[in-house]
Amino acid sequence: LAASADVHENFLHCLTLQYSHNTTPISQVIYTPNNSSYSSVLQFSIQNPRFLSPATPKPLVIITPLYESHIQVAINCSRKHGMHIRVRSGGHDYKGLSYVSDAPFFILDLINLRSISVDVANSTAWVQVGATIGELYYRIADKSTSLGFPAGVCPTVGVGGHFSGEGYGMLLRKFGLAADNVIDAHLIDINGRILDRESMGEDLFWAIRGGGGASFGVIIAWKIMLVPVPSTVTVFTVQKTLEQNATMLVHRWQYIADKLDGDLFIRIVLRRVNSSEEGKKTIEASFNSLFLGGIDELLPLMQESFPELGLVKEDCIEMSWIESILYFAGFPGGASLDVLLDRTPLTRRFFEARSDYVKEPISEIGLEGIWRRFYEEEATAAEMIFSPYGGRMNEIPESKTPFPHRAGNIYKIQHLVHMSWIRRLYSYMAPYVSKSPRATYLNYRDLDIGTNSNKGNTSYAQASIWGVKYFKNNFNRLVQVKASVDPMNFFRNEQSIPPVSVPW
Ligand code: FDA
Repeated sequence: LAASADVHENFLHCLTLQYSHNTTPISQVIYTPNNSSYSSVLQFSIQNPRFLSPATPKPLVIITPLYESHIQVAINCSRKHGMHIRVRSGGHDYKGLSYVSDAPFFILDLINLRSISVDVANSTAWVQVGATIGELYYRIADKSTSLGFPAGVCPTVGVGGHFSGEGYGMLLRKFGLAADNVIDAHLIDINGRILDRESMGEDLFWAIRGGGGASFGVIIAWKIMLVPVPSTVTVFTVQKTLEQNATMLVHRWQYIADKLDGDLFIRIVLRRVNSSEEGKKTIEASFNSLFLGGIDELLPLMQESFPELGLVKEDCIEMSWIESILYFAGFPGGASLDVLLDRTPLTRRFFEARSDYVKEPISEIGLEGIWRRFYEEEATAAEMIFSPYGGRMNEIPESKTPFPHRAGNIYKIQHLVHMSWIRRLYSYMAPYVSKSPRATYLNYRDLDIGTNSNKGNTSYAQASIWGVKYFKNNFNRLVQVKASVDPMNFFRNEQSIPPVSVPW
């Protein structure tokens, strides 16, 4: 304890000693538990109330830099005094790795670095990592009605973690993932150097677009390629219970979801609901869709590819792309676009989650086994979300970015909400989903698949247990990049890439 108090004192002293040309010295953006704003700064970006408990380890210091130089100072002092760093942008990490650590640590919270500049003429934008995707969508739509960006559904997700773990949303079948559309980045490395794509080199630039930023440095900003969106898009949500043939529809969907026209994305949200029959429960499959065009084009397409759903004009709503962002985020119709600038989530709920990839359609009998698990007591708030792949995802090679789950996957599953239920479901699902490895999505961080050793250096063999599930063969290249840019493993967490030599 005494040693950690020394580290703490020396670290703080080091921060305040640094000379800065900036108008605001770093001392004004440092929060310790003695500071009255400490708790509110800490809690503001905690998305999962699980990590608000008094038992959750707290940082010794929080720094909310205003300038790149503040970050350079923080890295320099933490290296000098052995203070562990956690970098936070939007705070949505499923396991709280951006603001929780068992070792004495400080949080570098990038919430103040959130400028966004949109260049309509070149269809590009620079976005600083502290911005949320909602802010980004808002700024794009403010400048142009014909440009958009293919990132996540929940507007409060931070650009820093989201893009570095890839990032997907309703445009993924047409344009791929968020990181697929990143064309440059600014990063501060272990030596405090500010690098761009050219100076960091293609290996590091490759690694931070899907390999997670936390292993490699502090990302400051991304340059992204914006994508064309039509002036009218169509959305629908069609709900079917088991009594309305949900099993057949979900089964059938698996044969068409990844083969549909790239303009059409239909995902399924599954949950347990009360049946129309008194006292009975049923399963509801919600077919939730974005189409890049008008109703008149959508209806014949649906008639041809998925007539079983029985989609009719009355199910569909035409709107602009930016309005569809509000629709999928769950805001009521007519809500002001300004809600996208609000960093407070619509709901803040306790949750646990895991992910899976499906390569072969699950039989109706297999689906019925899932339904049975939804009737268990713990499944009151449980959900499964099936998100289709195909389209642009099939065209991008597995090694193009660290994210390898491309062609050959029909859809991804997200299992929510209670861990003990999810674990039972996860084991039931084993025969139906990807194997060797059982693939997992990094942005749905899952510590059940394995972690680094907290007792010193993690071996390649140990890290590859979880690493190949996220990255498949790309894990080896990530390890090589890590060994070359951060050989002493300064930037580390429970699932950071280890800088070990690769045995081949
Ligand atoms: P946070 O700040 O917690 O960072 C996540 C990780 O990245 C941490 O390890 C952190 O240290 C590191 N990191 C953050 N900023 C960094 C930086 N500047 N430099 C280096 N490392 C950095 N995903 C998806 O693909 N589609 C979706 O629709 C959604 N929806 C969604 C809804 C909700 C409610 C939640 C809680 C999460 C999602 N996600 C998601 C998952 C989300 O993409 C994932 O949690 C991201 O990592 C979140 O990024 P943040 O910056 O918010 O997280």
